[in-house]
This record gives sequence, C-alpha cells and structure tokens, in this order.
Amino acid sequence: MLKILVSISLVLAMPVRAAEPPATVEPAPAADAAPAVADAPAEVAIDPAARAQASRLAIGVCGTCHGPRGISQQPKFPRLAGQNANYLAAQLHAFHAQTRGDPDAMSYMWGMAGTLDDSTIYALAAYYAAQPTRAGDSGDPAVVARGAAIFKDGIPSESVPPCATCHGADGHGVGDFPRLAGQHAQYILKQLGSFQNGLRNVAIMHGVAQGLNVSEMRAVAAFLQAQP
Ligand code: HEC
Ligand code: HEC
Repeated sequence: MLKILVSISLVLAMPVRAAEPPATVEPAPAADAAPAVADAPAEVAIDPAARAQASRLAIGVCGTCHGPRGISQQPKFPRLAGQNANYLAAQLHAFHAQTRGDPDAMSYMWGMAGTLDDSTIYALAAYYAAQPTRAGDSGDPAVVARGAAIFKDGIPSESVPPCATCHGADGHGVGDFPRLAGQHAQYILKQLGSFQNGLRNVAIMHGVAQGLNVSEMRAVAAFLQAQP
C-alpha cells in the first residue's frame, strides 16, 4: 500500500509544473491534487492505478484547456470542476463513440477521448467531480435577473419548462442531470444553440431549447455563470 501511495505521489508531483502553460496556471498544491476515495461515483470502484493515471492526464493534458483542476479560464472550454461524475463519464463516452457532434466537440474532444479506456474515463470523472467549484463573473444585473426567472419558472407561453426542475434549484445538477452553476456563459449559449439545431442531438434539451430565443438564452447563461 505504502509503495502504491509513494508511486502515486511521484506521478502526481512530476507533471504539475512541467506541463502547465502559463495561461491556465492555477494554484494546484500537489498534496491535495488527488480526490478522496469517498468522492468516486458510488457504483464504480476505481483502482489506484487508474486514479493516478487520471490525475496525471487531468493535470498534464486536459488541464491545458480545462485548467488543472477543472476551472478553465477561456469560455470556449467548459469548466468541469464539481460536475456530476455520471454526466462526465457519459460525455466522455459520447466523444469516444463520436456521437456528441458539434464542430468543437469533433475537433477538440473526439481525438482526446478516442484513446481513453473505461477505467480511465470513470477515474477522470471522479477526479473532476471532486474538485472545488467557483462562480464565474456576474453580468448585467437586469439580464441576470431575467435569466434567474427563466431558470426558476421557465417561459410558460413558449412551453419552456423551468430549468431548475432537472438541473436543481441551485443549478448544481440532480442525479444524472448536469451541473450548470458557474459554467461559462459563452459555452452555455453555444450548447443551447447546438441543442436547438440538433448538432448536439439530445431529445430532452432539443425540446427545451426550441422555445428559447437568443436573448433568452443569453439571459439564462449570464445567470448561470454567476452562480456559485
Ligand atoms: C485542446 C483543448 C482541449 C483539451 C486538451 C481537452 N478538452 Fe475537453 N473540451 C474541449 C472543448 C472545446 C470542449 C467543448 C466542446 C463543445 O463545445 O461541444 C470540451 C468538452 C469536454 C467535456 C464536456 C463537458 C460538458 O460540460 O459537457 C468533457 C467532459 C471534457 N471536455 C473532458 C476532457 C478530458 C477528460 C480531457 C483530457 C483527457 C480533455 N477534455 C481535454 C477542449 C479540450
Ligand atoms: C426535462 C429535464 C431538463 C430540463 C427542464 C432542462 N434540461 Fe438542460 N439538460 C438536461 C439533460 C438530460 C442534459 C444532458 C444532455 C446530454 O446528455 O448531453 C442537459 C444539458 C444541458 C446543458 C449542457 C451542459 C453542458 O455542460 O454541456 C445546458 C447548457 C442545459 N442543459 C441548459 C438548460 C437550460 C438553460 C434549461 C432551461 C431553459 C434546461 N437546461 C432545462 C435536462 C433538462
């Protein structure tokens, strides 16, 4: 056991500084870079080797775009910190199977996920689910307030259901429904467009996005970005 722990900390300690590009450097003390065992999805047992491999990948490879602990700075790259493990694993499987298909998914994530095996996918999901979250910048208060109303009440006249029903009152996600709180507004806006035009082909969210116009999408995205 001790031997395993020692080799994990070596693997963790090594790539942290070497691989981080300056634009995405964040305080990431190596000592707590590995999530606690208790944070793994309950039904998937993750062995220490997969856990170490996932931390190494997350910090050294995925971190280039998503930030070493899943708090990306650029809005094109979604924040992964605190995201539901089941949702993360489902998306990585979808990129791997090339079924999540808008152009950014194709050009950035199909290749990234193409080489991941199942145990690495579950370990990466557990890694990000266990990372601390952070609210993004808050936008124009009037726009945010409009977005808050859409999130909480939907738009009954357009048959748009309240987002909170599935994504949780605080936007932290419920069950397998993803967390949206703290996500980049620009990324949310783009996903809503991709659900609406079917490039990201998900029936539930296609139905939801159908009734939203661009200014309503912008409002709900601005609200969500500002949530902790
Ligand atoms: C070169 C940049 C880049 C790298 C490296 C990268 N990603 Fe991504 N990732 C993206 C982009 C861009 C998207 C958004 C795609 C879209 O808009 O559909 C994304 C989306 C995702 C999503 C979906 C998030 C959500 O909220 O639905 C997950 C999960 C993910 N990446 C995990 C990873 C993992 C794990 C790695 C490392 C193995 C990785 N990414 C490496 C650019 C990158
Ligand atoms: C009936 C349930 C339901 C409702 C209501 C709902 N969603 Fe979703 N949403 C989902 C599911 C399920 C997914 C995951 C889709 C997938 O598997 O790719 C999702 C995914 C998303 C994503 C992509 C997240 C990511 O990280 O890529 C966004 C953005 C989103 N929803 C926004 C909203 C907004 C805004 C509303 C309200 C206007 C809303 N949703 C209402 C079920 C729902």
